[in-house]
Amino acid sequence: MTDDRVRQARLVVGNYVEPHLGMPLAEAKAVKSVRSEAGSVVVEVELGFPAGRYAPELAATLERLLAAQPAAGPARVAVTWRVAAQAVQGGLKPLPGISNVIAVASGKGGVGKSTTAVNMALALALDGARVGLLDADIYGPSQPRMMGLQGERPMSRDGRRIEPLEAYGVKVISIGFLIEEEQPMVWRGPMVTQALTQLLGDTNWGELDYLVVDMPPGTGDIQLTLSQRVPVSGAIVVTTPQDIALLDARKGLRMFQKVAIPVLGVVENMSIHICSKCGHEEPIFGAGGGARMAEQYGVRLLGQLPLDIRIREETDAGRPTVVADPDGPVGRAYLEMARRTAAQLSLAAAAGAAGPSITVEET
Ligand SMILES: Nc1ncnc2c1ncn2[C@@H]1O[C@H](COP(=O)(O)OP(=O)(O)OP(=O)(O)O)[C@@H](O)[C@H]1O
Ligand SMILES: [Mg+2]
Repeated sequence: MTDDRVRQARLVVGNYVEPHLGMPLAEAKAVKSVRSEAGSVVVEVELGFPAGRYAPELAATLERLLAAQPAAGPARVAVTWRVAAQAVQGGLKPLPGISNVIAVASGKGGVGKSTTAVNMALALALDGARVGLLDADIYGPSQPRMMGLQGERPMSRDGRRIEPLEAYGVKVISIGFLIEEEQPMVWRGPMVTQALTQLLGDTNWGELDYLVVDMPPGTGDIQLTLSQRVPVSGAIVVTTPQDIALLDARKGLRMFQKVAIPVLGVVENMSIHICSKCGHEEPIFGAGGGARMAEQYGVRLLGQLPLDIRIREETDAGRPTVVADPDGPVGRAYLEMARRTAAQLSLAAAAGAAGPSITVEET
């Protein structure tokens, strides 16, 4: 009798398609144990992505599902999470103490890469992860402003390593901390990449589950060199729905493919305009571009963020949306996007491979 209930419960929980993973929990190897304890069924689920805020919600969902199945009967469900370190691209050594480096890239400038990177970092931290943010955009560092750290200078305790600054629980290093904001960056390529790899290696990050890297826009030599030098376990490409940005985003996908960095997916930014006066929704940059691109290249659409004046106001004021309004619709969209990204990254280990591979034909 109890054996039957355990078997049923295992089936119900294992077949549940977890929305962030986009696959059944059993397939994602997230069902840790199902057993009977003093006459009742006890289920343990372990997610591979930060779920501090989400775990109780998932536990309640699974308990409801089980209660609705007479054959499984009522059960207790515990959901925990643990972030594992993923492989990095061939030939590179992972950074000590840093489990996962996620590169946030775009083919084109101004599509909202930094806004996406900062909100993703904050969302992962809000879910309980230890997170760092590296502003690798040498030409237009924007993280000091977005994180409300403008004008601050990082210190060194030992004269060797730089101590990162911290805001809202996220450690931050930016080339912007070391230069004046108005000062133009006239460094040439090799100097730039050297400065960056140095910044990456010489920062005292401590232990991190994720280091989010806000990459310079574009797909030129600097970006390519960075993709070859920084040990990255997964990349996301930010795009707007406009065709031209999509063409550029495709170059971004191809660049990561060249250096064997798994592309975790695409984030479509400014996908729909929501009028701040009347709430009317309008796809001013065209509809469905991100979804089409994701489908075409076999990568996931990790999120769609609206063109919303509050995103700009909050981010530019140094209190990004995930901090300013985590429970509003936009804050929730960022949290979901970050969870899907981390979930996708966690699947790389479950698959025992370097992650999903994409094929991109030359255009
Ligand atoms: N979804 C959005 N809705 C409204 N404004 C946004 C949105 N995303 C980004 N912005 C605003 O657009 C501007 C450009 O965004 P951001 O700096 O993130 O782009 P970027 O791709 O990093 O640009 P760059 O190429 O200069 O580094 C910023 O002022 C930002 O606040
Ligand atoms: Mg930027």
